[in-house]
Amino acid sequence: MSVTATAYPNIALIKYWGKRDDALHLPETSSLSLTLGVFATVTTVTVSDELAADSVTVAEVPAPPRFAARVTGFLDLVRDLAGDRRRAQVCTVNTGPTGAGLASSASGFAALAFAASGAYGLDLDRRALSRLARRGSGSASRSIYGGFAQWHRGEGSGAAGDLSSYAEPVEAPRLDPALVVALVDAREKAVDSREAMRRTVETSPFYRPWVQSSEQDLRDMHTALAAGDLAAVGEIAERNALGMHATMLGARPAVRYFSPGSMRVLDRVLALRAAGVAAYATMDAGPNVKVLCDRRDSAEVAAALAETDSAIRVLVATPGPGAAVSGLGESSADDHR
Ligand code: DP6
Repeated sequence: MSVTATAYPNIALIKYWGKRDDALHLPETSSLSLTLGVFATVTTVTVSDELAADSVTVAEVPAPPRFAARVTGFLDLVRDLAGDRRRAQVCTVNTGPTGAGLASSASGFAALAFAASGAYGLDLDRRALSRLARRGSGSASRSIYGGFAQWHRGEGSGAAGDLSSYAEPVEAPRLDPALVVALVDAREKAVDSREAMRRTVETSPFYRPWVQSSEQDLRDMHTALAAGDLAAVGEIAERNALGMHATMLGARPAVRYFSPGSMRVLDRVLALRAAGVAAYATMDAGPNVKVLCDRRDSAEVAAALAETDSAIRVLVATPGPGAAVSGLGESSADDHR
């Protein structure tokens, strides 16, 4: 059985940073994101009797061993759920840069959750798919849904935590947002986010205060989304992201994803605001900057960011769809070589 699924990255406006359970990927805080309509990941999973081991390709070349091991670990979870020990071939193609803080792991594991569960014959609802995607990468739990989504931290540990930690859509019908992505550097990040968040939780004196302030940010964000108040949404998102980066700067040793180019883009965002354009920045585990604005202002914001000599590419993303199965087939593993 062969199943192909497509998923899009999401950018958190209220960040996920820190786990209370490393094995189950249970987060310390709830988070809230916007799924984008760009940089899709398309993944095909083919289950076969004839394979002695899983095989994983990214853009038609064998995946790096660490990534392949992560995919095999994820397939083991699906195999346990399905009671099926057969191996699989996984072919994945990212249309965005990988590992550069542009949420390729979110789209990647959301697509893999859909494709693998389908290929192993599981019939999971969206909540179960969100919980499954979470086990691949926490932020992937949110890419199951289009538009805005909240990933609930869930309560408790073990099975109780696992059952209660999933994402759900959040309605914001009065907003027409865009995220302008300023690509400052498309290379893989120096410290991977998993290691960086563990170090932050374990060593940063600023981590617990951020957790507390993030809870308030989330409540304020819901009020702002319901009111359709883009300026308030942007202000809350920007302070939450900068606070997250402050926790990392406090880690020992410090984790710093900002580059001089990121700073120049952030300065430009401040200048836009001073000129009366509602534009607000957020950043993840990399130097790239994403700027939230109204869709009507997105061309002006993109032009301003492109003028900085720091952005190697600027593109406008609007809200995108949730993950979905895009193809089904009976095929042998050979078909994808
Ligand atoms: C900064 O979901 O990639 O993008 O669960 O360890 O795989 P793991 O981490 P991941 O972390 C994303 C962190 C972030 C913020 C966010 O997306 O909420």
